[in-house]
Parts: sequence; structure tokens; C-alpha cells
Amino acid sequence: MYRCPICNQPLTVLEKSALCVSKHNFDRAKSGYFNFLLKNQTIFRGDHPTQIDARRNFLSKDFYLPLANQVNEIIASHHPSSLIDAGCGEGYYTHAIKKENPTCQVYGFDISKEAVEKAAKQDRDIHYCVSSVNRLPYRNNSSDMITSLFAPIDEEEFHRVLSESGILLVISAHPEHLLELKAVAYDTLVRHEHKSLSHSKLKLVDQKEFSFTLDLVQPDITHLFNMTPYGFRTAPKGKVRIEEKENLTVTAKFIIETYQKQI
Ligand SMILES: C[S@@+](CC[C@H](N)C(=O)[O-])C[C@H]1O[C@@H](n2cnc3c(N)ncnc32)[C@H](O)[C@@H]1O
Repeated sequence: MYRCPICNQPLTVLEKSALCVSKHNFDRAKSGYFNFLLKNQTIFRGDHPTQIDARRNFLSKDFYLPLANQVNEIIASHHPSSLIDAGCGEGYYTHAIKKENPTCQVYGFDISKEAVEKAAKQDRDIHYCVSSVNRLPYRNNSSDMITSLFAPIDEEEFHRVLSESGILLVISAHPEHLLELKAVAYDTLVRHEHKSLSHSKLKLVDQKEFSFTLDLVQPDITHLFNMTPYGFRTAPKGKVRIEEKENLTVTAKFIIETYQKQI
């Protein structure tokens, strides 16, 4: 499944390391993951640890379980024998996917080492690595499915790695996602624009909306806010308003898109 991130030759995975014919060698971390991110490959390190902790605190209470169940329903309809969760963060959905699909070989990667470390500690039977979305350490045509939940996408790389007729499942925030939360922090609401993928050989075969409401109290309101990009972008005044909000009903609204690889 893996290929060497330096020379693209197949990697042989051993208990404590992975190596290729050119003798590029990658040690396995104690928690079981590989770090395939090359030095100088990128200065970007992914989500900040504060964001990662907020996400783990919030998701561990299963507020987004309806979404995880929806994702698993779609996955089950495609019967993949291999799946990569791209930009998996600390592995909330990756864990849920493996639990529901125990015979599927599940892989997960993220550019944040802190997030992958947390994910790998939780599940030894998921193949985790640190990698950028722009240079995937997987062989051509090697995965039946890729899931991308709220994470960056490299359309060319995903197309390369998907097997023939492979499925890419993309979950993104709907422009109306968490509007009630934003209304607490901001005086003026700006809705982002949704853009579908544009790769000519990733065909959009299904698109739907999915939503549910959540009745929240503290500290979950603050955790939810801090796990979104707004946690960093908001002025102190807005953050205080979030922290002082005692209870709030929010609408979580998503766009679920299924793409199929065309040759
Ligand atoms: C909003 S979080 C979503 C995490 C997870 N999919 C979830 O829904 O819980 C986006 C993730 O993408 C990762 N990320 C950002 N840029 C990346 C890149 N260039 N390559 C790989 N992962 C990246 C971040 O570190 C972060 O964990």
C-alpha cells in the first residue's frame, strides 16, 4: 500500500520500520505510526494543538455521531476493502469507520504529528502516518475509497491513489453550518461559498445535505467554537461572548459529496 515518499518505490513495512529498495528507511513511532513528511516539504504543520484538544473534547462526547453514522452508511454501500481517511485529525471518524468495517484495511494520515500521535494511541489496527495531502505515501490505484472530512484535498493525488472506479467521499460544512454559534461571536454574518471539486476524472455521482440540531451548554459551546477556524480568527470580544454563553441550540449542517474515479 505504501510507497516511499522520497523515490516512489514500494515500501516494505516491517514491525519497527518501513524501507524501500533504495534503502530509504522510516522508523515506526512507539504508538505505531510512520512519519512520511519530508524535512523542508512544507512549513505548514496543520491544526494547532489547542484546536486538536478542543476537537477531541467535543467529538469524544459523540455530538457528531449522527454524521459518523451517515458516513458509515455510505461506506457500507460501497464495500471497500481498503480506505484512506485523509486529514484524519485525531481520528474520531477513522475510529468509527474501522469499528463498523472491521475487515476493511483502514489508513489515516494528517500533516499534524500531534493529531496522528493521539489517533495512533487509540487504534493500533488502523495504519496511521504523518503526511501532506500534496504528496501521498500510497501507491497508484491502491485504495478503494478515500474519505475527506473538513480537510484539504489534492484532487490529482487522490485520483492517482484511488483504485479503478474508486470512491471519494467528501464532507464539508454547509454555508449555514453553526450559524447560531457565529451569531454569538460576530455582529455581521458572512456565509462561505461551497465549491465542488473540478477534476475532470473525479465524477460527482451524489450530492446531499445532512443536518441535525444540538442543545449545548458550557464547556461544549467553547470547545465547538475552538475546534473551528473561527476559534483563531475571532477578536477577543467575540471569544468572551462565546465563553459567557451558558446554553445554545446550534444547527450542524453538512454537504456530503460522492465522487467516482474515471479512467
Ligand atoms: C478541520 S480538521 C478535520 C479533522 C478530521 N477529519 C475531523 O473531521 O475530525 C482538518 C485537518 O486537516 C489537517 N491538514 C491541514 N492541512 C493539511 C495538509 N496539507 N495535509 C494533510 N493534512 C492537513 C489538519 O491538521 C487537521 O487535522
